[in-house]
This record gives sequence, C-alpha cells and structure tokens, in this order.
Amino acid sequence: MVSAQINAFSQPVAVQVTPLPAKINVAVRLDGVLKRFGHSIALHKVSLMIAEGEFVTLLGPSGCGKTTLLNLMAGFADADNGEIFIGGESVTETPPYRREIGIVFQHYALFPHMTVAKNVGYGLRMRGVPKAEMAQRVEQALTLVKLVGYGDRRPRELSGGQQQRVALARALVIRPKVLLLDEPFSALDKNLRLAMQIELKEIQRQLGVTTVFVTHDQGEALSMSDRVVVMSAGHVRQIGTPDEIYRHPADPFVAGFVGDVNILPGRYLRCDSTAMLALADNVLHIPLAQVHASVGEQIDIYVRPENILLVDAQAASLLHATVITHVFQGDHVDIHLQVLVPEKKRLFARQSGLEALVRWPVGCVVGLTFDDDGVCAFTAVQQQQ
Ligand SMILES: Nc1ncnc2c1ncn2[C@@H]1O[C@H](COP(=O)(O)OP(=O)(O)OP(=O)(O)O)[C@@H](O)[C@H]1O
Ligand SMILES: [Mg+2]
Repeated sequence: MVSAQINAFSQPVAVQVTPLPAKINVAVRLDGVLKRFGHSIALHKVSLMIAEGEFVTLLGPSGCGKTTLLNLMAGFADADNGEIFIGGESVTETPPYRREIGIVFQHYALFPHMTVAKNVGYGLRMRGVPKAEMAQRVEQALTLVKLVGYGDRRPRELSGGQQQRVALARALVIRPKVLLLDEPFSALDKNLRLAMQIELKEIQRQLGVTTVFVTHDQGEALSMSDRVVVMSAGHVRQIGTPDEIYRHPADPFVAGFVGDVNILPGRYLRCDSTAMLALADNVLHIPLAQVHASVGEQIDIYVRPENILLVDAQAASLLHATVITHVFQGDHVDIHLQVLVPEKKRLFARQSGLEALVRWPVGCVVGLTFDDDGVCAFTAVQQQQ
C-alpha cells in the first residue's frame, strides 16, 4: 500500500491508493481529469485505473462529483483537462455512441411508448444488428434479468424494480466494454434494493463486465464492490478494497463517511514498534500504520462501535462510562454511554447479543476497552485550523 501525508480534511489530499497487480488489463484509465462548471471545479485532477472485469464503486456525498465523473467516461461531457482511456485508447475525440458503454440511470430512462423488447433492443437497432440476431440477443438479455415473457409490455405496466431490470438489460445487450450505473436502485424500497444488489452482482460476475457503480450509500458500496473510490468535493480521498476503506481509512472524512464511528480527544505520546496514544489517564497502543499524525500532536482517536468492548467497572479498562440508553436494532444493540473522563464525551458501543441489555442496564457504570485493530488516529481537526 502506498501511504501519503494526509492534510486537513477540508483541504486537497494526497490520495492513498492500493495499486493494481502489475499484470492486469486496464479497462478504464483516468489521467488528471479536471472538470469546471463556470468558476467552480467539480473534479480536481482525478486519476484512476479500473481493471477489466472489476466492479468499482464511486462513493461520496451529494454534489461530490460522482455523476460528473460518470458523464465524462460516457462522453456526455468533456473534461477541461486530463485524459480518459477506455480499453487502452484515448476517447477524448470519441462520441458517446462509439465508446461501447452501457448506462443505467437513477430514474428509469426507458422510452415509454416502446415495448420492453423494443426498449432492450434499441442499442442493437441503432447499430444495425440484423433482426433475427436482435431478437435472440434481446431474449438472452431478458433471461439474464429474469424478465422472460415481459417483452410485449410497456414500461408503465412494470414495477420500479422491473423497470430497472429492463434498463440493465438494455445496457448489457450491446455487450459493452464498460457498464456505468448511476444510483440505479435509489428509488427502490429497501428489500427490493437489497435483492437487486445481489442480482446485479451475480450478473456482473457471470458476464465479467467491467462495472462502475455510483452510490452515496456506504453499505451498498462495501457489499458490492471489488474496490471503492471515496470522493468528497471533487477530490478522490481514498481508493481501496471495502475492507481497506473500512478498517484503514486514510483520512477523517473517509473514517466518518464510511461506517459509524466514535471520536475521542487524545495525544500522540511516542512510538517504537507500536504507537502510544494518551487517552484520558491511560495509554492506548495501536499499530503504527493506523496513526496519521506526528508524535506530540493532539489527535482525534476514531473507534468503530463494534470495536468497543464493555467490561465490569472493576476490571482493567481504558475508560469508565455510564450506560445512558439501549437502542435495539434487530440483529444488534447499540449501547449509548457517557464517559466519565474526558467529561461529557458520549460514545456508543455495538453488541451483537441481546444479553447485553440485561448485563449492562441503563444507569450502570462500566469499563471500556478497545479492540486495537479497529482504532485509528488523525491529527486533531482543531489543531489543523
Ligand atoms: N451542468 C452543470 N452545471 C453546473 N454545475 C454542475 C452541473 N452538473 C453538476 N454541477 C455541479 O458539479 C458538482 C458535482 O455534481 P454531481 O452531479 O457530479 O454530483 P453527485 O456526486 O453526482 O451528487 P448526487 O449524489 O446528488 O447525484 C455539484 O456541485 C454540482 O452542482
Ligand atoms: Mg449524481
């Protein structure tokens, strides 16, 4: 892993990137792609390589530039600087219909007056594919998305999920080099969204098609992707596998955006084989790679709720806290805690078993320890300003 100095989280960052293995066919390459709208910059010199067959997700909050990046790949907009390569060739001069890209949008962009079969076959008709072959490929695509028998219906006679399947079939039928999906499931209810995620992943694996998926839902990104590109305000913050992004966030933005997190103030005391962090009256040892600060600095210590362990108040622990409330979440319980020192700090710990409700009742004082692997630290935000 290439690690770089990370600056204040509202500032431009040096991106942490896990390199692709050396011998890999690159399907998409972006080299310093910059996009302006008037005086504002929507994308700041984005560079990215996507391997053939890879499922890569662009993840970030609203307005961070995800759709803009997709539009540049598709050829719907031009970059002001930098270059885009698809299948090894620069596509700067290539119009959208020659890029061999399949696209699925957030809202079902189907032609309402055409049947499902006509919608799916649209790209083939435009490419002059003979009728018999077209009928066969449309049928194959409808089989792939489990809509055999729906060819004669109109889009208005389909549910939202079925309409997105038609859109997927229409994108795949042309056998694209790259499949681009812009928040394709965000208009669907939760259960349908989960079902469609699994189906898309299966289809993608079956076809081996290079896929760039856009979402602002971190759960969706972590569960579906080979690699995730975390973006904010037109910058790429980190590129890595879901596990790297979640367990080794490169900066405070990524740590806070991907998954739940608690933040505690501390100081970076010193380092030898591990990093020693002062937290309240105790010293916490964590792996050096998980600290993005200099010795002596004030730091923010980030700990995921599932990495906080509750122990009896008399047992050895890092902190003491009072249980404030339990929030039952079905498959787990979040225990909200008021830490005694540093005063007024609130945390929550995630417990998988329901026995936690009985063992740690509201009002009781508990000891807290951390699973060191799930802790990271960054230069304190206040110190950076
Ligand atoms: N055609 C346009 N003209 C001017 N500004 C634009 C245009 N398209 C996008 N922008 C601006 O560029 C930035 C990035 O927009 P973009 O649509 O790429 O964000 P996004 O990450 O896709 O957000 P969302 O999650 O809301 O879809 C935003 O600040 C947006 O206002
Ligand atoms: Mg968008």
